Amino acid sequence: MRLTLAVVLWTALLAYQVEAHQALWNYGLFGYNWPYQASNKTQDWNSNAVVSPLRKTQNLTIAEWFGRGMTKYPPRTGEFMSLPSGGIYQGEIACNRAYTKLMQQPSLNGSNLTPFACEGGTMHQINPLVTSPPPNNTWLGGTALAIAYTSDVDTLKPSDMVIISVNFTSVFWREIDYSIPKGLPPCPDGGCLCTWNWYHLAGHGEGYGQEMYNTLYRCNVTGETDSSVSLALGAGTVPVYCGNDTSSCVTGPKTPMYAWMAEGSNMPDSPIPRYSAGFGFSDGAQTDVLSVAKPSVNSAARRRSTNPSIFRFLGTILRPSDHRTRTTNGMRMRRRIGL
Ligand SMILES: *[C@@H]1O[C@H](CO)[C@@H](O)[C@H](O)[C@H]1NC(C)=O
Ligand SMILES: *[C@@H]1O[C@H](CO)[C@@H](O)[C@H](O)[C@H]1NC(C)=O
Ligand SMILES: *[C@@H]1O[C@H](CO)[C@@H](O)[C@H](O)[C@H]1NC(C)=O
Ligand SMILES: *[C@@H]1O[C@H](CO)[C@@H](O)[C@H](O)[C@H]1NC(C)=O
Ligand SMILES: *[C@@H]1O[C@H](CO)[C@@H](O)[C@H](O)[C@H]1NC(C)=O
Ligand SMILES: *[C@@H]1O[C@H](CO)[C@@H](O)[C@H](O)[C@H]1NC(C)=O
Ligand SMILES: *[C@@H]1O[C@H](CO)[C@@H](O)[C@H](O)[C@H]1NC(C)=O
Repeated sequence: MRLTLAVVLWTALLAYQVEAHQALWNYGLFGYNWPYQASNKTQDWNSNAVVSPLRKTQNLTIAEWFGRGMTKYPPRTGEFMSLPSGGIYQGEIACNRAYTKLMQQPSLNGSNLTPFACEGGTMHQINPLVTSPPPNNTWLGGTALAIAYTSDVDTLKPSDMVIISVNFTSVFWREIDYSIPKGLPPCPDGGCLCTWNWYHLAGHGEGYGQEMYNTLYRCNVTGETDSSVSLALGAGTVPVYCGNDTSSCVTGPKTPMYAWMAEGSNMPDSPIPRYSAGFGFSDGAQTDVLSVAKPSVNSAARRRSTNPSIFRFLGTILRPSDHRTRTTNGMRMRRRIGL
């Protein structure tokens, strides 16, 4: 009886904290148990530190914004967000750990969960909170999962990240699917590092301007991996706004977009970055990450004639197996580019 009352009071308290700030929750997340370490016996089931936005007015350094400044709060040893190459990663987006099925206090046993990524807040003013019809993506910022083929968080840089999956219909639903490209290389022994990236739009009741979201995970690529290819750190090109002029979109692997930070921004202040076609993204698996992994003669020639610099660039990133057997050096290319 007392326990039930405590749970009721506690959930009522949480209800007041509902807001439009969001994160993708997983036991691989850095900072999910903040202010405690993930390994601490004390679990903060009512945790929302990682969802707080990164604002222009905060004048943040890379150490402060990258991975929500949580690189010193690693997940428990052995916890990874598992991304199935050629399959779908099913995750949960919420404004508090308490509102996820995976990370909720066990005694709540799935209570208080909604189909939406937390109700209320400015995020939902344009799209009504109904399960049908589905939301109109026009005013959703879209979200992106990016990966770096390293487990070394101390040397990881924002520009190391390469986007592998986008979901245009987010943030809206709590449960989210990210389609993971087939044939990604396997991760190194200690796993990979991944980030989740989002901007909500401003000015249409869908959020405030000048807020960035960036959370960090230990992750691993499972499923239909291909060890004959590799994806270098820093392999992505910075996206540009191309609007409806698809010919000017950046193609091939792309980095996440970083704006409004005191340090490390790679995008102009406006338009608000968005994981949408207008910035060169497709909805789902970013298959162009692997576009030159095994090029046919024709497609290679076509790509070379239309965009030689991109082709050469990609050629250093993803080496087809036949190429690798001909070279003495089968090492994975590692390239770092400055911010
Ligand atoms: C673990 O939690 C205790 C309180 O329960 C606290 O004193 C301690 O500093 C915490 N340690 C870490 C590493 O978070
Ligand atoms: C932003 O922070 C930098 C140091 O990181 C400092 O030099 C600068 O004056 C700050 N700018 C504002 C507007 O606070
Ligand atoms: C959790 O809830 C489900 C129904 O939603 C029920 O079948 C199950 O017994 C509950 N488990 C516990 C431990 O209360
Ligand atoms: C989505 O919203 C945009 C902007 O308001 C509108 O132009 C478009 O027709 C809408 N799409 C659908 C399917 O309702
Ligand atoms: C985006 O996630 C939703 C669930 O929230 C899912 O229905 C949809 O298929 C996903 N879109 C893509 C392109 O994977
Ligand atoms: C990552 O997944 C692969 C394939 O399932 C597995 O062999 C490997 O041990 C995993 N790595 C880690 C660090 O768990
Ligand atoms: C592309 O957008 C511009 C300005 O936003 C508009 O003038 C033009 O008509 C659009 N073109 C197409 C093909 O929709």
